[in-house]
Amino acid sequence: MKNINEYLQENRQKLLDELFDLLKIPSVSADPVYAEDVINTANFIKNQLEKIGLDNVSIEKTPGYPIVYAEKIIDEKLPTVLIYGHYDVQPVDPVELWHSDPFKPVIKKTDIHPEGAIFARGSSDDKGQMFMHVKAVEYLLKNDSLPVNVKFMIEGEEEVGSPSLSWYVKRNHEKLKNDVIIISDTGMVANDVPAITTGLRGLSFVEVTVTGPKRDLHSGLYGGAVGNPINILTKMIAQLTDENNHITIPGFYDKVKDLSPEERVEIAKTPFDLENYKKALDVTDVYGEKGYTTLERQSIRPTLDVNGIWGGYTGEGAKTIIPSKAHAKISMRLVPDQDPEEIPGMFEAYFKSIAPKAVKVEVKNLHGGYPYVTPTNHIGYKAAAKAMHKAFGKDPLPIYSGGSIPIVPLFEKELGTKSILMGFGLDSDAIHSPNEHYGVFNYFKGIETLSYFYDYYKNEFTQ
Ligand code: BES
Ligand code: MN
Ligand code: MN
Repeated sequence: MKNINEYLQENRQKLLDELFDLLKIPSVSADPVYAEDVINTANFIKNQLEKIGLDNVSIEKTPGYPIVYAEKIIDEKLPTVLIYGHYDVQPVDPVELWHSDPFKPVIKKTDIHPEGAIFARGSSDDKGQMFMHVKAVEYLLKNDSLPVNVKFMIEGEEEVGSPSLSWYVKRNHEKLKNDVIIISDTGMVANDVPAITTGLRGLSFVEVTVTGPKRDLHSGLYGGAVGNPINILTKMIAQLTDENNHITIPGFYDKVKDLSPEERVEIAKTPFDLENYKKALDVTDVYGEKGYTTLERQSIRPTLDVNGIWGGYTGEGAKTIIPSKAHAKISMRLVPDQDPEEIPGMFEAYFKSIAPKAVKVEVKNLHGGYPYVTPTNHIGYKAAAKAMHKAFGKDPLPIYSGGSIPIVPLFEKELGTKSILMGFGLDSDAIHSPNEHYGVFNYFKGIETLSYFYDYYKNEFTQ
Protein backbone atom coordinates (compact mmCIF):
# COMPACT_ATOMS: atom_id res chain seq x y z
CA MET A 1 0.00 0.00 0.00
CA LYS A 2 1.31 3.40 -1.01
CA ASN A 3 1.18 6.33 1.34
CA ILE A 4 -0.78 9.35 0.21
CA ASN A 5 2.22 11.43 -0.80
CA GLU A 6 3.66 8.67 -2.99
CA TYR A 7 0.21 8.21 -4.49
CA LEU A 8 -0.18 11.92 -5.22
CA GLN A 9 3.24 12.11 -6.80
CA GLU A 10 2.66 9.10 -9.04
CA ASN A 11 -0.76 10.26 -10.13
CA ARG A 12 -0.01 13.98 -10.27
CA GLN A 13 -0.76 14.50 -13.96
CA LYS A 14 -3.88 12.34 -13.92
CA LEU A 15 -5.26 14.20 -10.90
CA LEU A 16 -4.72 17.51 -12.64
CA ASP A 17 -6.17 16.30 -15.95
CA GLU A 18 -9.35 15.10 -14.27
CA LEU A 19 -9.85 18.41 -12.49
CA PHE A 20 -9.20 20.24 -15.77
CA ASP A 21 -11.94 18.22 -17.48
CA LEU A 22 -14.34 19.29 -14.73
CA LEU A 23 -13.28 22.95 -14.98
CA LYS A 24 -13.85 22.96 -18.74
CA ILE A 25 -17.62 22.61 -18.36
CA PRO A 26 -19.18 26.08 -17.89
CA SER A 27 -21.62 25.32 -15.07
CA VAL A 28 -22.85 28.87 -14.45
CA SER A 29 -26.03 28.38 -12.43
CA ALA A 30 -27.15 32.03 -12.62
CA ASP A 31 -27.45 32.12 -16.43
CA PRO A 32 -30.03 29.86 -18.15
CA VAL A 33 -27.85 29.86 -21.29
CA TYR A 34 -25.64 27.34 -19.48
CA ALA A 35 -28.47 25.06 -18.31
CA GLU A 36 -27.24 22.08 -20.34
CA ASP A 37 -23.67 22.54 -19.13
CA VAL A 38 -24.81 22.60 -15.51
CA ILE A 39 -26.57 19.26 -16.06
CA ASN A 40 -23.50 17.88 -17.84
CA THR A 41 -21.40 18.83 -14.84
CA ALA A 42 -23.75 16.90 -12.54
CA ASN A 43 -23.29 13.89 -14.82
CA PHE A 44 -19.52 14.32 -14.78
CA ILE A 45 -19.55 14.20 -10.97
CA LYS A 46 -21.87 11.20 -11.02
CA ASN A 47 -19.50 9.31 -13.32
CA GLN A 48 -16.56 10.16 -11.09
CA LEU A 49 -18.34 8.99 -7.96
CA GLU A 50 -19.27 5.71 -9.68
CA LYS A 51 -15.76 5.22 -10.99
CA ILE A 52 -14.16 5.54 -7.57
CA GLY A 53 -16.44 2.80 -6.27
CA LEU A 54 -19.21 4.52 -4.32
CA ASP A 55 -22.69 2.98 -4.07
CA ASN A 56 -26.18 4.29 -4.79
CA VAL A 57 -24.81 7.05 -6.98
CA SER A 58 -27.72 9.09 -8.23
CA ILE A 59 -28.72 12.32 -9.85
CA GLU A 60 -31.39 13.62 -7.50
CA LYS A 61 -34.08 15.73 -9.12
CA THR A 62 -35.08 18.98 -7.41
CA PRO A 63 -37.23 21.89 -8.59
CA GLY A 64 -33.95 23.39 -9.85
CA TYR A 65 -30.60 21.87 -10.75
CA PRO A 66 -29.97 18.32 -9.53
CA ILE A 67 -27.99 17.17 -6.52
CA VAL A 68 -25.48 14.38 -6.98
CA TYR A 69 -25.66 11.83 -4.19
CA ALA A 70 -23.44 8.83 -3.43
CA GLU A 71 -22.47 6.75 -0.42
CA LYS A 72 -20.24 4.04 0.94
CA ILE A 73 -21.69 2.40 4.01
CA ILE A 74 -19.08 0.01 5.32
CA ASP A 75 -20.75 -0.66 8.67
CA GLU A 76 -23.95 0.79 10.12
CA LYS A 77 -22.29 0.93 13.55
CA LEU A 78 -19.50 3.20 12.35
CA PRO A 79 -19.88 6.99 12.18
CA THR A 80 -20.99 8.60 8.93
CA VAL A 81 -19.33 11.63 7.38
CA LEU A 82 -21.36 13.69 4.90
CA ILE A 83 -19.33 15.58 2.30
CA TYR A 84 -20.97 18.65 0.82
CA GLY A 85 -19.72 20.76 -2.07
CA HIS A 86 -21.03 22.60 -5.12
CA TYR A 87 -20.40 22.00 -8.80
CA ASP A 88 -21.90 25.27 -10.05
CA VAL A 89 -19.84 28.42 -10.55
CA GLN A 90 -20.30 32.20 -10.69
CA PRO A 91 -20.74 34.03 -14.00
CA VAL A 92 -17.46 35.10 -15.63
CA ASP A 93 -18.21 38.76 -16.41
CA PRO A 94 -16.45 41.02 -16.99
CA VAL A 95 -14.96 38.41 -19.33
CA GLU A 96 -12.61 40.89 -21.05
CA LEU A 97 -10.60 41.16 -17.83
CA TRP A 98 -9.60 37.49 -17.89
CA HIS A 99 -6.06 36.83 -19.17
CA SER A 100 -7.12 33.40 -20.39
CA ASP A 101 -10.40 31.69 -21.21
CA PRO A 102 -12.27 31.07 -17.91
CA PHE A 103 -13.20 27.58 -19.10
CA LYS A 104 -9.81 26.59 -20.54
CA PRO A 105 -7.79 25.96 -17.39
CA VAL A 106 -4.08 26.81 -17.49
CA ILE A 107 -1.35 26.63 -14.86
CA LYS A 108 0.63 29.83 -14.32
CA LYS A 109 3.11 30.82 -11.64
CA THR A 110 2.29 33.75 -9.35
CA ASP A 111 4.14 35.43 -6.47
CA ILE A 112 2.02 33.54 -3.95
CA HIS A 113 2.09 30.30 -5.94
CA PRO A 114 5.66 29.58 -7.14
CA GLU A 115 4.50 26.00 -7.89
CA GLY A 116 1.79 27.38 -10.15
CA ALA A 117 -1.92 28.00 -9.84
CA ILE A 118 -4.81 26.72 -11.94
CA PHE A 119 -6.60 29.64 -13.60
CA ALA A 120 -10.25 28.88 -14.36
CA ARG A 121 -13.70 29.81 -13.09
CA GLY A 122 -14.54 27.45 -10.24
CA SER A 123 -10.93 26.33 -9.70
CA SER A 124 -11.09 27.47 -6.06
CA ASP A 125 -14.85 28.03 -5.60
CA ASP A 126 -15.72 25.25 -5.51
CA LYS A 127 -14.93 22.64 -8.15
CA GLY A 128 -11.25 22.38 -7.25
CA GLN A 129 -11.96 22.11 -3.54
CA MET A 130 -14.95 19.80 -3.88
CA PHE A 131 -12.96 17.50 -6.19
CA MET A 132 -10.23 17.07 -3.54
CA HIS A 133 -12.80 15.17 -1.47
CA VAL A 134 -13.57 12.85 -4.38
CA LYS A 135 -9.87 12.17 -4.86
CA ALA A 136 -9.14 11.67 -1.14
CA VAL A 137 -11.95 9.11 -0.87
CA GLU A 138 -10.76 7.49 -4.12
CA TYR A 139 -7.35 6.98 -2.55
CA LEU A 140 -8.82 5.51 0.64
CA LEU A 141 -11.09 3.13 -1.30
CA LYS A 142 -8.24 1.99 -3.55
CA ASN A 143 -6.21 1.17 -0.46
CA ASP A 144 -9.12 -0.45 1.27
CA SER A 145 -8.59 1.96 4.15
CA LEU A 146 -11.77 4.01 4.41
CA PRO A 147 -12.42 3.75 8.17
CA VAL A 148 -15.95 5.25 8.36
CA ASN A 149 -19.10 5.56 6.24
CA VAL A 150 -19.23 8.42 3.77
CA LYS A 151 -22.01 10.16 1.89
CA PHE A 152 -21.53 12.75 -0.84
CA MET A 153 -24.02 15.49 -1.58
CA ILE A 154 -22.86 17.84 -4.31
CA GLU A 155 -25.25 20.57 -5.40
CA GLY A 156 -25.55 22.83 -8.44
CA GLU A 157 -27.27 25.93 -7.10
CA GLU A 158 -25.02 27.24 -4.33
CA GLU A 159 -24.03 30.37 -6.21
CA VAL A 160 -27.67 31.37 -6.62
CA GLY A 161 -28.58 30.85 -2.97
CA SER A 162 -29.38 27.10 -2.95
CA PRO A 163 -33.11 27.65 -3.64
CA SER A 164 -33.88 23.91 -3.93
CA LEU A 165 -31.79 22.71 -1.07
CA SER A 166 -34.17 23.14 1.81
CA TRP A 167 -36.78 21.36 -0.30
CA TYR A 168 -34.37 18.47 -0.81
CA VAL A 169 -32.93 18.28 2.70
CA LYS A 170 -36.40 18.34 4.31
CA ARG A 171 -37.45 15.35 2.20
CA ASN A 172 -34.26 13.34 2.75
CA HIS A 173 -33.51 13.36 6.46
CA GLU A 174 -32.90 9.62 6.58
CA LYS A 175 -30.75 9.48 3.48
CA LEU A 176 -28.57 12.41 4.59
CA LYS A 177 -28.30 11.24 8.20
CA ASN A 178 -24.73 11.75 9.41
CA ASP A 179 -22.53 12.40 12.42
CA VAL A 180 -20.58 15.28 10.95
CA ILE A 181 -20.42 17.22 7.70
CA ILE A 182 -17.15 18.25 6.08
CA ILE A 183 -16.91 21.02 3.53
CA SER A 184 -14.04 22.59 1.63
CA ASP A 185 -15.50 25.85 0.32
CA THR A 186 -13.62 28.40 2.44
CA GLY A 187 -10.02 29.50 2.89
CA MET A 188 -6.82 29.48 4.90
CA VAL A 189 -4.80 32.50 6.05
CA ALA A 190 -1.78 31.64 3.88
CA ASN A 191 -0.21 28.50 2.43
CA ASP A 192 1.88 28.15 5.59
CA VAL A 193 -0.95 29.25 7.92
CA PRO A 194 -3.67 26.59 7.73
CA ALA A 195 -7.06 27.46 9.18
CA ILE A 196 -10.45 26.03 9.97
CA THR A 197 -13.38 28.38 9.54
CA THR A 198 -15.46 28.45 12.71
CA GLY A 199 -17.87 31.20 11.71
CA LEU A 200 -19.74 32.25 8.58
CA ARG A 201 -21.87 35.33 8.11
CA GLY A 202 -25.50 35.08 7.14
CA LEU A 203 -27.05 36.98 4.28
CA SER A 204 -30.09 38.96 3.23
CA PHE A 205 -30.21 39.95 -0.40
CA VAL A 206 -32.79 42.41 -1.70
CA GLU A 207 -33.53 44.12 -4.99
CA VAL A 208 -35.13 47.54 -4.95
CA THR A 209 -36.97 49.39 -7.70
CA VAL A 210 -37.81 53.07 -7.49
CA THR A 211 -40.40 54.22 -10.01
CA GLY A 212 -41.08 57.84 -10.91
CA PRO A 213 -43.09 58.88 -13.99
CA LYS A 214 -44.69 56.05 -15.98
CA ARG A 215 -42.32 56.62 -18.94
CA ASP A 216 -38.95 58.24 -19.57
CA LEU A 217 -39.42 62.01 -19.91
CA HIS A 218 -37.60 64.80 -21.75
CA SER A 219 -35.26 66.17 -19.09
CA GLY A 220 -35.68 69.72 -20.40
CA LEU A 221 -39.44 69.77 -20.52
CA TYR A 222 -39.92 67.99 -17.19
CA GLY A 223 -36.54 68.32 -15.48
CA GLY A 224 -36.70 70.04 -12.10
CA ALA A 225 -40.42 69.44 -11.73
CA VAL A 226 -40.67 65.64 -11.47
CA GLY A 227 -38.84 63.27 -9.14
CA ASN A 228 -35.89 61.59 -10.88
CA PRO A 229 -35.83 57.99 -9.59
CA ILE A 230 -32.05 57.66 -9.97
CA ASN A 231 -31.36 60.87 -8.01
CA ILE A 232 -33.81 59.71 -5.38
CA LEU A 233 -32.55 56.12 -5.19
CA THR A 234 -28.95 57.27 -4.67
CA LYS A 235 -30.06 59.69 -1.94
CA MET A 236 -31.98 56.90 -0.22
CA ILE A 237 -29.01 54.53 -0.42
CA ALA A 238 -26.80 57.24 1.08
CA GLN A 239 -29.14 57.34 4.08
CA LEU A 240 -28.73 53.62 4.81
CA THR A 241 -25.41 54.25 6.58
CA ASP A 242 -24.30 57.17 8.76
CA GLU A 243 -21.03 59.10 9.05
CA ASN A 244 -19.51 56.28 11.15
CA ASN A 245 -20.58 53.67 8.59
CA HIS A 246 -23.14 52.27 11.00
CA ILE A 247 -26.26 50.93 9.32
CA THR A 248 -29.26 53.15 10.07
CA ILE A 249 -32.10 50.64 9.60
CA PRO A 250 -34.10 50.64 12.87
CA GLY A 251 -33.75 47.31 14.66
CA PHE A 252 -30.88 46.11 12.45
CA TYR A 253 -28.39 45.71 15.32
CA ASP A 254 -30.89 44.58 17.98
CA LYS A 255 -29.82 40.92 17.90
CA VAL A 256 -26.16 41.43 17.06
CA LYS A 257 -23.97 39.73 19.67
CA ASP A 258 -21.32 42.15 20.79
CA LEU A 259 -17.76 40.90 20.89
CA SER A 260 -16.21 40.15 24.23
CA PRO A 261 -12.73 41.61 24.85
CA GLU A 262 -11.39 38.02 24.79
CA GLU A 263 -12.93 37.39 21.38
CA ARG A 264 -11.34 40.56 20.06
CA VAL A 265 -7.97 39.38 21.30
CA GLU A 266 -8.51 36.01 19.57
CA ILE A 267 -9.41 37.65 16.27
CA ALA A 268 -6.38 39.93 16.46
CA LYS A 269 -4.14 36.83 16.58
CA THR A 270 -4.81 36.09 12.92
CA PRO A 271 -1.74 37.23 10.97
CA PHE A 272 -2.73 40.36 9.08
CA ASP A 273 -0.70 43.10 7.46
CA LEU A 274 -2.70 46.21 6.62
CA GLU A 275 -0.09 47.58 4.20
CA ASN A 276 -0.01 44.34 2.20
CA TYR A 277 -3.77 44.19 2.28
CA LYS A 278 -4.07 47.66 0.75
CA LYS A 279 -1.34 46.95 -1.78
CA ALA A 280 -3.00 43.72 -2.93
CA LEU A 281 -6.24 45.61 -3.60
CA ASP A 282 -4.58 48.79 -4.90
CA VAL A 283 -6.46 51.03 -2.47
CA THR A 284 -4.93 53.96 -0.62
CA ASP A 285 -6.96 53.31 2.49
CA VAL A 286 -9.45 50.90 3.98
CA TYR A 287 -13.00 51.98 4.77
CA GLY A 288 -15.57 50.68 7.20
CA GLU A 289 -17.44 50.81 10.44
CA LYS A 290 -15.89 53.07 13.04
CA GLY A 291 -14.50 51.37 16.11
CA TYR A 292 -13.59 48.03 14.48
CA THR A 293 -10.45 46.61 12.90
CA THR A 294 -10.34 45.41 9.31
CA LEU A 295 -10.35 41.77 10.45
CA GLU A 296 -13.43 42.46 12.57
CA ARG A 297 -15.17 44.46 9.86
CA GLN A 298 -14.78 41.65 7.37
CA SER A 299 -15.86 38.80 9.59
CA ILE A 300 -18.00 39.44 12.66
CA ARG A 301 -19.69 42.76 11.95
CA PRO A 302 -22.80 43.03 9.77
CA THR A 303 -22.61 44.98 6.51
CA LEU A 304 -24.76 46.62 3.87
CA ASP A 305 -23.45 46.85 0.30
CA VAL A 306 -24.88 47.86 -3.04
CA ASN A 307 -23.88 45.08 -5.45
CA GLY A 308 -25.24 46.70 -8.58
CA ILE A 309 -27.19 49.77 -9.60
CA TRP A 310 -28.80 50.60 -12.91
CA GLY A 311 -31.39 52.62 -14.74
CA GLY A 312 -31.78 55.34 -17.36
CA TYR A 313 -29.58 55.71 -20.39
CA THR A 314 -26.08 54.21 -20.31
CA GLY A 315 -25.31 53.88 -24.04
CA GLU A 316 -22.95 55.99 -26.20
CA GLY A 317 -23.18 59.76 -26.02
CA ALA A 318 -25.89 61.78 -24.30
CA LYS A 319 -29.61 61.20 -24.07
CA THR A 320 -31.47 63.84 -22.15
CA ILE A 321 -34.08 62.00 -20.10
CA ILE A 322 -35.55 61.63 -16.70
CA PRO A 323 -35.76 57.86 -16.39
CA SER A 324 -38.91 56.15 -15.28
CA LYS A 325 -37.15 53.61 -13.07
CA ALA A 326 -34.01 53.02 -11.02
CA HIS A 327 -32.86 49.70 -9.55
CA ALA A 328 -30.30 48.42 -7.10
CA LYS A 329 -29.26 45.06 -5.67
CA ILE A 330 -28.29 45.24 -2.01
CA SER A 331 -26.68 42.59 0.17
CA MET A 332 -26.55 42.60 3.94
CA ARG A 333 -24.14 40.22 5.66
CA LEU A 334 -25.49 39.08 9.00
CA VAL A 335 -23.83 37.91 12.20
CA PRO A 336 -25.13 35.88 15.18
CA ASP A 337 -28.02 36.21 16.17
CA GLN A 338 -29.43 38.30 13.34
CA ASP A 339 -32.32 36.63 11.52
CA PRO A 340 -32.59 36.69 7.70
CA GLU A 341 -36.35 36.19 8.11
CA GLU A 342 -36.59 39.54 9.89
CA ILE A 343 -33.96 41.75 8.26
CA PRO A 344 -35.61 42.21 4.83
CA GLY A 345 -38.81 43.40 6.53
CA MET A 346 -36.86 45.94 8.58
CA PHE A 347 -35.06 47.06 5.44
CA GLU A 348 -38.30 47.46 3.51
CA ALA A 349 -40.08 49.41 6.24
CA TYR A 350 -37.18 51.84 6.61
CA PHE A 351 -36.47 52.15 2.90
CA LYS A 352 -40.10 53.00 2.17
CA SER A 353 -40.20 55.44 5.09
CA ILE A 354 -37.36 57.53 3.62
CA ALA A 355 -38.82 57.69 0.10
CA PRO A 356 -40.40 60.95 -1.01
CA LYS A 357 -44.02 60.75 -2.17
CA ALA A 358 -42.85 61.50 -5.72
CA VAL A 359 -41.80 57.86 -6.25
CA LYS A 360 -43.10 54.34 -5.67
CA VAL A 361 -40.74 51.86 -4.02
CA GLU A 362 -40.70 48.10 -4.43
CA VAL A 363 -38.46 45.79 -2.37
CA LYS A 364 -37.97 42.16 -3.38
CA ASN A 365 -36.38 39.69 -0.97
CA LEU A 366 -34.22 37.52 -3.25
CA HIS A 367 -32.58 35.11 -0.87
CA GLY A 368 -30.98 34.75 2.50
CA GLY A 369 -29.23 32.52 4.98
CA TYR A 370 -28.44 32.34 8.68
CA PRO A 371 -25.05 33.01 10.23
CA TYR A 372 -23.16 30.00 11.62
CA VAL A 373 -20.58 29.01 14.23
CA THR A 374 -18.77 25.74 15.06
CA PRO A 375 -17.18 25.34 18.48
CA THR A 376 -13.52 24.31 18.48
CA ASN A 377 -14.19 21.55 21.01
CA HIS A 378 -16.39 19.62 18.56
CA ILE A 379 -14.83 16.23 17.75
CA GLY A 380 -15.05 17.01 14.03
CA TYR A 381 -13.04 20.16 14.59
CA LYS A 382 -10.47 18.24 16.63
CA ALA A 383 -10.08 15.58 13.94
CA ALA A 384 -9.77 18.23 11.24
CA ALA A 385 -7.15 20.08 13.29
CA LYS A 386 -5.12 16.87 13.69
CA ALA A 387 -5.32 16.15 9.97
CA MET A 388 -4.14 19.68 9.21
CA HIS A 389 -1.35 19.39 11.74
CA LYS A 390 -0.13 16.20 10.11
CA ALA A 391 -0.24 17.69 6.60
CA PHE A 392 1.12 21.17 7.37
CA GLY A 393 3.29 20.46 10.41
CA LYS A 394 1.41 23.02 12.49
CA ASP A 395 -1.94 23.58 14.14
CA PRO A 396 -4.63 25.38 12.12
CA LEU A 397 -5.98 28.71 13.32
CA PRO A 398 -9.70 28.93 13.98
CA ILE A 399 -10.97 31.86 11.87
CA TYR A 400 -14.24 33.65 11.31
CA SER A 401 -15.01 34.17 7.66
CA GLY A 402 -17.10 36.96 6.23
CA GLY A 403 -18.57 34.77 3.48
CA SER A 404 -21.82 32.82 3.59
CA ILE A 405 -22.79 29.22 2.89
CA PRO A 406 -26.51 29.19 3.70
CA ILE A 407 -26.74 25.40 3.53
CA VAL A 408 -24.50 25.05 6.59
CA PRO A 409 -26.96 26.51 9.13
CA LEU A 410 -29.77 24.73 7.28
CA PHE A 411 -28.02 21.36 7.74
CA GLU A 412 -27.72 22.09 11.44
CA LYS A 413 -31.41 22.92 11.73
CA GLU A 414 -32.68 20.02 9.61
CA LEU A 415 -30.16 17.25 10.32
CA GLY A 416 -28.88 18.36 13.71
CA THR A 417 -25.21 18.05 12.80
CA LYS A 418 -22.32 20.47 12.59
CA SER A 419 -20.25 21.28 9.52
CA ILE A 420 -16.47 21.44 9.72
CA LEU A 421 -15.21 24.04 7.25
CA MET A 422 -11.85 22.74 6.12
CA GLY A 423 -11.08 25.09 3.28
CA PHE A 424 -7.83 25.34 1.34
CA GLY A 425 -8.40 28.49 -0.73
CA LEU A 426 -6.76 31.87 -0.22
CA ASP A 427 -8.37 35.32 -0.23
CA SER A 428 -6.13 36.11 -3.20
CA ASP A 429 -7.72 33.32 -5.29
CA ALA A 430 -10.02 35.93 -6.84
CA ILE A 431 -13.16 33.85 -6.36
CA HIS A 432 -16.20 35.43 -8.10
CA SER A 433 -13.70 37.75 -9.89
CA PRO A 434 -11.83 37.64 -13.19
CA ASN A 435 -8.77 35.32 -13.17
CA GLU A 436 -9.95 33.06 -10.39
CA HIS A 437 -7.20 30.57 -9.57
CA TYR A 438 -6.34 27.81 -7.16
CA GLY A 439 -2.84 26.82 -6.11
CA VAL A 440 -1.54 23.49 -7.35
CA PHE A 441 -0.02 23.20 -3.87
CA ASN A 442 -3.44 23.81 -2.30
CA TYR A 443 -5.09 21.17 -4.48
CA PHE A 444 -2.63 18.43 -3.54
CA LYS A 445 -2.28 19.53 0.10
CA GLY A 446 -6.05 19.47 0.34
CA ILE A 447 -6.29 15.89 -0.93
CA GLU A 448 -3.52 14.87 1.47
CA THR A 449 -5.17 16.55 4.49
CA LEU A 450 -8.63 15.17 3.73
CA SER A 451 -7.22 11.65 3.41
CA TYR A 452 -5.99 11.94 7.03
CA PHE A 453 -9.27 13.27 8.41
CA TYR A 454 -11.22 10.01 8.50
CA ASP A 455 -8.92 8.01 10.79
CA TYR A 456 -8.68 10.88 13.25
CA TYR A 457 -12.43 11.30 13.18
CA LYS A 458 -13.06 7.63 13.83
CA ASN A 459 -10.69 7.77 16.80
CA GLU A 460 -12.32 10.89 18.24
CA PHE A 461 -15.73 9.33 17.73
CA THR A 462 -15.02 6.00 19.39
CA GLN A 463 -13.11 7.50 22.34
N1 BES B 1 -17.55 29.48 -1.11
C1 BES B 1 -18.29 30.70 -1.03
C2 BES B 1 -18.39 31.26 0.38
C3 BES B 1 -17.10 31.52 1.10
C4 BES B 1 -15.92 31.80 0.42
C5 BES B 1 -17.11 31.51 2.46
C6 BES B 1 -14.75 32.04 1.12
C7 BES B 1 -15.95 31.75 3.16
C8 BES B 1 -14.76 32.01 2.49
C9 BES B 1 -19.68 30.46 -1.60
O1 BES B 1 -19.62 29.81 -2.84
C10 BES B 1 -20.33 31.78 -1.87
O2 BES B 1 -19.89 32.47 -2.75
N2 BES B 1 -21.38 32.11 -1.13
C11 BES B 1 -22.16 33.27 -1.39
C12 BES B 1 -23.53 33.16 -0.81
C13 BES B 1 -24.59 32.67 -1.74
C14 BES B 1 -25.93 32.74 -1.07
C15 BES B 1 -24.61 33.30 -3.09
C16 BES B 1 -21.53 34.49 -0.76
O3 BES B 1 -20.89 34.39 0.30
O4 BES B 1 -21.69 35.54 -1.35
MN1 MN C 1 -18.37 28.20 -2.79
MN1 MN D 1 -19.07 31.32 -4.39
